[in-house]
Amino acid sequence: MSILDKHGIIEKNATLLLIGSFLVVTIGGIVEIAPLFYLENTIEKVEGVRPYTPLELTGRDIYVREGCYVCHSQMIRPMRDEYERYGHYSLAAESMYDHPFQWGSKRTGPDLARVGGRYSDAWHVDHLTNPQSVVPESVMPKYGFLKNRLIDTAHLEERLTTDAAVGVPYSSDMIEAAKADFAAQLDPYADTDGLFERYDDRVNVRNFDGQPAVTEMDALVAYLQVLGTMVDFSTFERDASR
Ligand code: HEC
Repeated sequence: MSILDKHGIIEKNATLLLIGSFLVVTIGGIVEIAPLFYLENTIEKVEGVRPYTPLELTGRDIYVREGCYVCHSQMIRPMRDEYERYGHYSLAAESMYDHPFQWGSKRTGPDLARVGGRYSDAWHVDHLTNPQSVVPESVMPKYGFLKNRLIDTAHLEERLTTDAAVGVPYSSDMIEAAKADFAAQLDPYADTDGLFERYDDRVNVRNFDGQPAVTEMDALVAYLQVLGTMVDFSTFERDASR
């Protein structure tokens, strides 16, 4: 009787089968999971990817609060129909500071991973206020009320601190200057040196919704306009060795 014929012993003994299965699953699990503990980082670092500015982060919270992800994904798959329509496929690094990530798979509307810079601010304000005014067949709801909702920045430092706690590299300097950076990004005449130094000198600085008040519309448009624009794909090169 060869060793292969002995599987009957395991098959006829439930406890033995259970112990055997447990061992196999454990070994498989360790092989897959253990390397993640000693790999310094499972995400390749890509130049240009930075934490969101306080204004963009506020806009992102509004995006999540309003459930935009119910109809919009933020992940361009590496398939031809996707990158021809939306642009370069999404890199893992591009959502490394997203907590929670907004990848999704539900696309009632288009993917938004690279919508930044594709339209003017005024287009976004018009579209969010009344989507059917620019895309008549649109089924997107109206979000005009965001223009009347003012932003309370009282807890901005805590908001950044929370993200820092889960690994977003907000420095104490960034957290301390959160309110100042928030205000500077909305004011075309502001002193933006600090903001540029802490984040990137390509940060969009302007009055996003065109109204004097600081509203949720400002923050949401600031967020939409940065999506997918941090990495410069004209100079980006894949590192095939990793
Ligand atoms: C009920 C589903 C639905 C919800 C919820 C929704 N959208 Fe849309 N969205 C659409 C559809 C459909 C389109 C395509 C037609 C159009 O442009 O209006 C669209 C288009 C867009 C576009 C233009 C994208 C492009 O590349 O042309 C943007 C930007 C956008 N939505 C942002 C948002 C934001 C921000 C929210 C949350 C405040 C949101 N959407 C909520 C369905 C939705």
